[in-house]
Amino acid sequence: MGVGAGWALLTAPLRPGPLGTSIMWPLWLLTSLLALSQALPFEQKGFWDFTLDDGVPMLNDEEASGADTSGVPDLDSLTPTFSAMCPFGCHCHLRVVQCSDLGLKTVPKEISPDTTLLDLQNNDITELRKDDFKGLQHLYLQKLYISKNHLVEIPPNLPSSLVELRIHDNRIRKVPKGVFSGLRNMNCIEMGGNPLENSGFEPGAFDGLKLNYLRISEAKLTGIPKDLPETLNELHLDHNKIQAIELEDLLRYSKLYRLGLGHNQIRMIENGSLSFLPTLRELHLDNNKLSKVPAGLPDLKLLQVVYLHTNNITKVGVNDFCPMGFGVKRAYYNGISLFNNPVPYWEVQPATFRCVTDRLAIQFGNYKK
Ligand SMILES: *[C@@H]1O[C@H](CO)[C@@H](O)[C@H](O)[C@H]1NC(C)=O
Ligand SMILES: *[C@@H]1O[C@H](CO)[C@@H](O)[C@H](O)[C@H]1NC(C)=O
Repeated sequence: MGVGAGWALLTAPLRPGPLGTSIMWPLWLLTSLLALSQALPFEQKGFWDFTLDDGVPMLNDEEASGADTSGVPDLDSLTPTFSAMCPFGCHCHLRVVQCSDLGLKTVPKEISPDTTLLDLQNNDITELRKDDFKGLQHLYLQKLYISKNHLVEIPPNLPSSLVELRIHDNRIRKVPKGVFSGLRNMNCIEMGGNPLENSGFEPGAFDGLKLNYLRISEAKLTGIPKDLPETLNELHLDHNKIQAIELEDLLRYSKLYRLGLGHNQIRMIENGSLSFLPTLRELHLDNNKLSKVPAGLPDLKLLQVVYLHTNNITKVGVNDFCPMGFGVKRAYYNGISLFNNPVPYWEVQPATFRCVTDRLAIQFGNYKK
């Protein structure tokens, strides 16, 4: 829920409220969202409802409503016939088949064809075979959780109905060309914790896939992969070995709302590289090796949250965050973190933060060494 609620804060219309209330309202919103999500049982009405229940939000309402869901059967129109079959040792309930932590070496055979979520996490599965989803292939398995197994490749025969794939903590080194080509509209792929290097992505690996959220954290990336889906709203590449952001690295990802690059080794962000992200709202660059605030932040009109803590920033200029003169910032910042940098913070001019909702939104702190 953490991610979802956090996101709701960002997508809610942002007005720089009167001083004092601007910090209160997000908390209020957060609390009521949490209350709401606890009060209502999960009731699935349509395709995109899947995006709301587990902290992987669909970020873009316009896209959601306009999304092509024609390939996905309306679950309500199908007779509620969750069959009695349930693989030995698994728990089956409301089209959810839960077979985690069972020491399975293969995918169980007796999976009901009306399964929507198949949880195979934390087993000993080394590969998905062609027939593993036989019968599920043309139905509507929507979520496959197969994290913490021993897969070495993204399986090539995933059911076309899939909207969410969790495959982190495996041994995947390779994402072959066209492996997702049978899948058209997905919400989320979580594939961190795999020994993936940049060269492991074959060109065209994501061809044909519309994807909203991608996480490849804790891998072995040394740069931002250049060939990910251009539909991405969220991209998380934290805990890798990325050293620099070069001018064209982000060219393709102009729909990003949120970009996570914390815990890398970034020293250099080429001037202009952030200008390809006109809708960016949240940027995580904490725990890197930056020596200055990246250029171009004042031009990101919707940017609200910037994490720059734990870097090597020695100086913060008065125009590093906010536009000069009559430059327009449509959404004010509500979070800038700069603590744990060797910047003499008493030298930073207060006007530096003239486009921040509230001074409490700036986390400075003392640099201790
Ligand atoms: C990058 O931009 C900054 C100002 O934002 C400027 O001082 C610097 O010279 C630029 N560097 C290059 C290589 O263009
Ligand atoms: C931090 O920057 C200074 C120069 O400003 C440099 O001498 C030092 O090596 C840098 N430290 C790290 C950890 O990169």
